[in-house]
Amino acid sequence: MSSPGSADLVIVANRLPVDRVTDDDGTPGWRTSPGGLVTALEPVLRANDGTWIGWPGGEEQDLEPFEFDGLDLVPMTMSAEEIENFYEGFSNATLWPLYHDVVAKPEFHREWWDSYVAVNRRFAAKAAEVASEGATVWVHDYQLQLVPQMLRDQRPDLRIGFYLHIPFPPAELFQQLPWRRQILEGLLGADLVGFQLTGGSQNFVRLVRQRVGHKTHRDLIYLPDGRTVRAKAFPISIDAAGFEELARSESVGTRAGEIREALGNPRTVFLGIDRLDYTKGIIARLRAFGELIEDGHLDVEDAVFVQVATPSRERVEQYRILRDEIDRLVGHINGDLGKIGRPAVSYLHASHPREDMAALYRAADVMVVTPYRDGMNLVAKEYVACRFDNDGALVLSEFAGAADELRQAWLINPYDINGMKSALLEASRAQSRDLTRRMRAMRRTVIQHDVAAWADSFLEDLAAVRPSHGKAVRPAKRA
Ligand code: G6P
Repeated sequence: MSSPGSADLVIVANRLPVDRVTDDDGTPGWRTSPGGLVTALEPVLRANDGTWIGWPGGEEQDLEPFEFDGLDLVPMTMSAEEIENFYEGFSNATLWPLYHDVVAKPEFHREWWDSYVAVNRRFAAKAAEVASEGATVWVHDYQLQLVPQMLRDQRPDLRIGFYLHIPFPPAELFQQLPWRRQILEGLLGADLVGFQLTGGSQNFVRLVRQRVGHKTHRDLIYLPDGRTVRAKAFPISIDAAGFEELARSESVGTRAGEIREALGNPRTVFLGIDRLDYTKGIIARLRAFGELIEDGHLDVEDAVFVQVATPSRERVEQYRILRDEIDRLVGHINGDLGKIGRPAVSYLHASHPREDMAALYRAADVMVVTPYRDGMNLVAKEYVACRFDNDGALVLSEFAGAADELRQAWLINPYDINGMKSALLEASRAQSRDLTRRMRAMRRTVIQHDVAAWADSFLEDLAAVRPSHGKAVRPAKRA
């Protein structure tokens, strides 16, 4: 067992909650990342003398731990080869597509796996170094599934939680992974394994029973060494009050008006905001919109689709292919259906600050969220949080985790283009009474279950897991 550090709460995630920025005079600095996770964890980190371990992105080496805005951050470095094999390779070209319904074909390469093991080992060693005696360590997401067990081997005194932000696939798909057993055993190092939805946690428990041979009962797994592991759903959320406050601000209101003006004040603004990812169904939704214009159901004089696609994982082949496809499709739709000063699709390939997002959410009439598979989809929740007037329609894929909570959206199957077309039309023609009824109910859900409630409930359940089940169970069978 390595000697303890001083942090009572340690967050371990592939990314640090800050991004690299260069000041006007050329000196490098840091800026808080826009994600909601930081907002949620910041108060708990401060209250617990917490530390966040993660990669700041890029190849920069020799980074020392530092304090930013009162948070203790420990940057992990990655070599060019690790970025290629661990991050772009195993994390984003093997696990990402495999866990998202095999929407793209996952690639299996042994040298990617070796790099995944090596990087996970380094993250685990760092967590073991900084965590105090009996500390709580919360490990995040698919990039670090081996960390829980690696950490427990070094520091059995710790309370370890793991949360998966993306879907956990059914056994039939997970089975493809040559290293399926190692991943399951890595996760079982945690006391509590959290998922977005109950389906994911049930998939996990079933796989543990079948593949590792441990005894399970409902959401509990009994390990032969006497430990209990709990698997449970904790649907993640957003800083709803923060988004609403931003949306209500005068500057965002003005900006929203300017956006509509710049679009030529059409009757209906459809909006899509996504990371440029093949799981998001961007092509399908644009095709559906294009067909509605072609069929004469919509007219470019009074309808426009604003699509924002944030650049992501640009060196991974599938992402490059998708970018080219979207470029081509948008060109096609606008070339065939647009008029002078009236493109059918207004397409932006860039990331935007939170204020711009809030202005777009306010400017939209119909928010269109159509992933083929998505752990949660926080964009849908952000849109709802920003519609404080209880107006605006949401068209939402039933394959997004958010569909479990946002039942009053127009729910669609993104593989069914005709169904999607009908929903887009219906949503854009809905009576304001109908819109208000739906939005009011969705807002109640999002405001009540915000990201702070999510973090609290995970940490509460983690603290409550009984370390020992006291049952006599046989050692795990080899699958
Ligand atoms: C998803 C994942 C996160 C990831 C984020 C951005 O939300 O669940 O773990 O950080 O995408 O992707 P990136 O590869 O840029 O970190």
